[in-house]
Amino acid sequence: MKKLFIKTYGCQMNVYDSARMADLLAPLGYAPGSGPEDADMVILNTCHIREKAAEKVYSELGRLKQLKLARAAQGQSMLIAVAGCVAQAEGEEILARQPAVDVVVGPQSYHRLPQMLAEITRGAGHVLETEFPAEEKFDSLPDEGAAPGPAAFLTVQEGCDKFCTFCVVPYTRGAEFSRPVMQIVDEARRLAGSGVRELTLLGQNVNAYCGEGPDGATWSLARLLCRLAEIEGIARLRFTTSHPRDMREDLIAAFGDLPQLMPYLHLPLQSGSDRVLNAMNRKHTAAEYLDLIARIRARRADLALSSDFIVGFPGEEDCDFEATLAVVREVNYAQAYSFKYSPRPGTPASAAHTQVPEEIKKSRLERLQSLLSEQQDAFNVSCRGRSFPVLFEKPGKKPQQGVGRSPYLQPVHVDGAASLIGQIRSVRISDVLPNSLRGELLDAPVAEVAH
Ligand code: SAH
Ligand code: SF4
Ligand code: F3S
Repeated sequence: MKKLFIKTYGCQMNVYDSARMADLLAPLGYAPGSGPEDADMVILNTCHIREKAAEKVYSELGRLKQLKLARAAQGQSMLIAVAGCVAQAEGEEILARQPAVDVVVGPQSYHRLPQMLAEITRGAGHVLETEFPAEEKFDSLPDEGAAPGPAAFLTVQEGCDKFCTFCVVPYTRGAEFSRPVMQIVDEARRLAGSGVRELTLLGQNVNAYCGEGPDGATWSLARLLCRLAEIEGIARLRFTTSHPRDMREDLIAAFGDLPQLMPYLHLPLQSGSDRVLNAMNRKHTAAEYLDLIARIRARRADLALSSDFIVGFPGEEDCDFEATLAVVREVNYAQAYSFKYSPRPGTPASAAHTQVPEEIKKSRLERLQSLLSEQQDAFNVSCRGRSFPVLFEKPGKKPQQGVGRSPYLQPVHVDGAASLIGQIRSVRISDVLPNSLRGELLDAPVAEVAH
């Protein structure tokens, strides 16, 4: 067997893609290895979203080149591949900056990896593939290999047509494309058959999902979720990432009507200032966002919310930033990600003359993050003494300990639960730790959702 090492950067869609690349290469004799040192092939599955993410790739490639030389000195070879969004955005430039790279493959082209490797074996030197046939990719991927555990990702939608003025995704992932319903159902059935209990449906704009159903009609994400909930073994459903503009009525209703849908929603706001939202091309106002959340909470009172924020977008003034803080106070998030605006090549906002100085971005980020972590801590503390169902996913660090997730995605550590992996059990939360909860098993079994 040859050893394969994949290092994944960026979003969950890259995590899904990395697993699929491993599935594709398994028939060629590649088995997952533990690190790059003794790997016959290393794939960096990269992210282009912020400058830091993209620059990391080149420093990692520098280190890999040294490993490749060291292996060559021992008569062994190492193939280096760059996949993902940096591969798509920079293409040839990667080969120019780091000639030790053998393969550059974009996120919609990795199904062609086996042919690309064959070309290299035939002496082709470097190979590069950055076409955009998302449909062809899904049609030609093999069945999944071993299930990753009781909770799995499933990509249902790719790409983005929204063109927010700060974002590279429409350029790296191409136009929006929804996989057909039955292709997704088949994948979900296979995952359920290998022990998966929770599915997280993925897409850059997952709630814009509009795939072809078996009846020839176009199905919404809500309809797809209802269909997946019928699959035996699937007890929990989640989806990410959603755009506020695509949060349709049937999806809002699903939070009340579909018991398998977890009461947790990642709904990025980016900014609480209408002026900035407009300049970002988000196409909604802060009031519309708040109204949307009120409507979802009316269906599911215990809904926990998460979001993404950007501070220091070009032209952002103190009053705009204060507006963001005000919306954050009003929503009260259970969890959130926040970033300093990073100008990305080719995006409209990067050319604006109103760039915000670094020190201001830094101090705004600190203020926002301290508010968000206060809210996260308060949310976790509010869980102490409560009981909820936990899906156990893996053993903990301590003997006999099991680690699972609450409905609100918090990690929960429970002593004596190591043998419960794959089960959903009622747990009473006893302690709140900085990034997780600790709980005790309750005897009462969790009522399973009937199929
Ligand atoms: N599709 C999702 C976002 C995907 S990118 C949405 O529409 O919300 C993930 C997050 O990265 C974004 O929500 C945004 O907060 C952040 N991000 C994207 N481009 C960025 C940039 N140029 N600088 C800083 N953060 C950025
Ligand atoms: Fe990027 Fe906007 Fe598309 Fe999200 S909706 S991926 S932020 S362009
Ligand atoms: Fe990054 Fe591409 Fe995902 S830019 S966030 S890996 S879609």
